[in-house]
Amino acid sequence: MKEKMNKERLAELLRENFPSERSFLLPVLHFIHEEFGFLEESALEEAAKHLRVPVSEVWGSATSYTELRTREPSGNVVGICTGLSCVLKGAHDLLSRANKLARASGSDNTTIEELQCGFLCGVAPVLRHNHKWTAHAVEQDVINAMEGGTHP
Ligand code: FES
Repeated sequence: MKEKMNKERLAELLRENFPSERSFLLPVLHFIHEEFGFLEESALEEAAKHLRVPVSEVWGSATSYTELRTREPSGNVVGICTGLSCVLKGAHDLLSRANKLARASGSDNTTIEELQCGFLCGVAPVLRHNHKWTAHAVEQDVINAMEGGTHP
């Protein structure tokens, strides 16, 4: 997970990268999600201020998209795409394996998440770990990611 930034730095980045217009709400949410690893409350308040929209509207949008987390994930985040191409290529088996490994470990140090299509359908199934995608993911890739390892 990336280092958290302070409100002043976030406000500066929002000013530099996004017009203060409501229509930029979704791009701003994705930006914050990428920077923080989730939609931190204070960051959403800063987004509302920058975009000049009510905080309730920002929260409403933030909680409408399954690919956006509103809570901080545990240390190791393993995402498996469950878009159609990935499902047809075995994503549910990978997801099942990841969930079994997580239960067997008895630790809550790993967050397993289902991802929407990552637009990498030609190399399905795909897995995302530490902001990196693995193409043609297989069970060993899941095991490596769950252990915090890297793809060989
Ligand atoms: S369905 Fe998985 S990358 Fe498109």
